Amino acid sequence: MAGDEQPEMMPIPFDVPTSARAYGWMLGGKDNYAVDREFLLHTLPDFPECVDIARQNREFLFRVVRHLTQAGVRQFIDMGCGLPTDDNVHQVAQRFAPDARVVYVDIDPIVLAHAHALLADDATTTVITGDMRDQDAILDHPDVRRLIDFDEPVAVLFLSVGHHLTDADDPRRVLHTIIDRAAPGSYLGFSQVVSDDPERGAAMTAHISGSGVPWQTRTPGEVDVLLDGLAPVEPGLLNLVDWRPDADQPSLAPVHEDLAPYLGATEQNKGIYEYGGLLRKA
Ligand SMILES: C[S@@+](CC[C@H](N)C(=O)[O-])C[C@H]1O[C@@H](n2cnc3c(N)ncnc32)[C@H](O)[C@@H]1O
Repeated sequence: MAGDEQPEMMPIPFDVPTSARAYGWMLGGKDNYAVDREFLLHTLPDFPECVDIARQNREFLFRVVRHLTQAGVRQFIDMGCGLPTDDNVHQVAQRFAPDARVVYVDIDPIVLAHAHALLADDATTTVITGDMRDQDAILDHPDVRRLIDFDEPVAVLFLSVGHHLTDADDPRRVLHTIIDRAAPGSYLGFSQVVSDDPERGAAMTAHISGSGVPWQTRTPGEVDVLLDGLAPVEPGLLNLVDWRPDADQPSLAPVHEDLAPYLGATEQNKGIYEYGGLLRKA
């Protein structure tokens, strides 16, 4: 597979929850530790929407990658890709466009460990451990140079990672660095957790960042400012459940019984949701 020459593995943290493992648990995954489960079970009473919105985001990922292949895109950089699960970006893309190429990037070393096994026989998909805040290092990575041709349209995906970029990270710079250098006709996929109620958003930010996971819940208006300069594809930037919904798309794995009581919480409470869409570079 591509991506065998990796820097020495960073240690996997066991004393703090990680986003990749907690999110993976909400998608039905099993690669998590007590610290991740305790973090979520401590978070959900105050923010019960989290299970629904994680799953709604993952369903959006399928629809957006399918749409991109139908629009002719054949190369993808998936920033903060998360732990492998069903219907990962390369599997969705290659189902509709077998020649699609994918570079996965994630800061969490557990992602690399699990993705290596999944990608063992795949020459057109690679995974690298990297920090999306260091866009220049990602652009310079040999696997990115080998698989991505910046003279052709590329899709840069920041799906459910915007909330991991705080204002101190200069998120506008992070989001625009690659797309600014990419060919016209390239796309940026984006989603993040938002709240229409700034007070509740601030409480969520304090709770999650206080647990050791970098986090900033924004308002939809704050997200719009970050993405200014790119043209949203129809139906625009909105709650992801309304982005080209498809009742026939593949379903996700069932959730663990401890999380099942929280399924459907977004029906009662619409205050916190995953917001985003797809934007095109003219
Ligand atoms: C909520 S998951 C989203 C996974 C996937 N993008 C999806 O939409 O299904 C967020 C992921 O972003 C990763 N992440 C957080 N901060 C990051 C950073 N600075 N650089 C790269 N990855 C990061 C986490 O490790 C985690 O795997």
